[in-house]
Amino acid sequence: MILIQFTGLSGAGKTTLAQNVRHLLLDKSYKVEIVDGDVYRKTICRDLGFSREDRCENIRRLFNVAQNFVREDTIVLMSVINPYESLRNELRTYEFVRTVYLDCSISNLIKRDPKGLYKQALLPDNDPNKISHFTGISDVFEIPSNADLVLKTDVETEIFSTNRLYSFIISNLS
Ligand code: ADX
Repeated sequence: MILIQFTGLSGAGKTTLAQNVRHLLLDKSYKVEIVDGDVYRKTICRDLGFSREDRCENIRRLFNVAQNFVREDTIVLMSVINPYESLRNELRTYEFVRTVYLDCSISNLIKRDPKGLYKQALLPDNDPNKISHFTGISDVFEIPSNADLVLKTDVETEIFSTNRLYSFIISNLS
């Protein structure tokens, strides 16, 4: 079985690619679940913010959820920013985990900004709508040095990245 731990900035395409690949896998009758940070932050991770401690706790809780799916022979796509190398490496010690980095330049993310969050993160400090500690702007994102797959989502088309991820999953199933 396989658990994909995504890593990448907000807006890099984690949710989109996970959903595209999920459909391809379901078409081939695989069991597949997406464990999405945006979704679980409204439920079991509702109490967590974006400090280092809270982000780590968030990932740990989601990894627990994901492991339960893996035990049921389900392919899991963990769709989270997952910004810290040390925590990613901790998860990689499980033999069924693969790390997929969605690489997209900050300038492109600011241009795209589908949720308007970069605009809010770049507001002046005294603006009440400013989002502080925003990953890639005012908080750290550690570029993975040893990802198993890198998808350059600002260069590749959505279909191309989707197909690369799909092929990677199929060839890494155990
Ligand atoms: S993680 O850092 O703990 O892995 P996670 O993937 O769960 O983050 O949540 C990221 C999502 O939370 C973003 O896509 C965005 O919608 C929202 N968000 C709100 N505040 C922040 C922030 N300060 N930094 C990053 N994302 C934020």
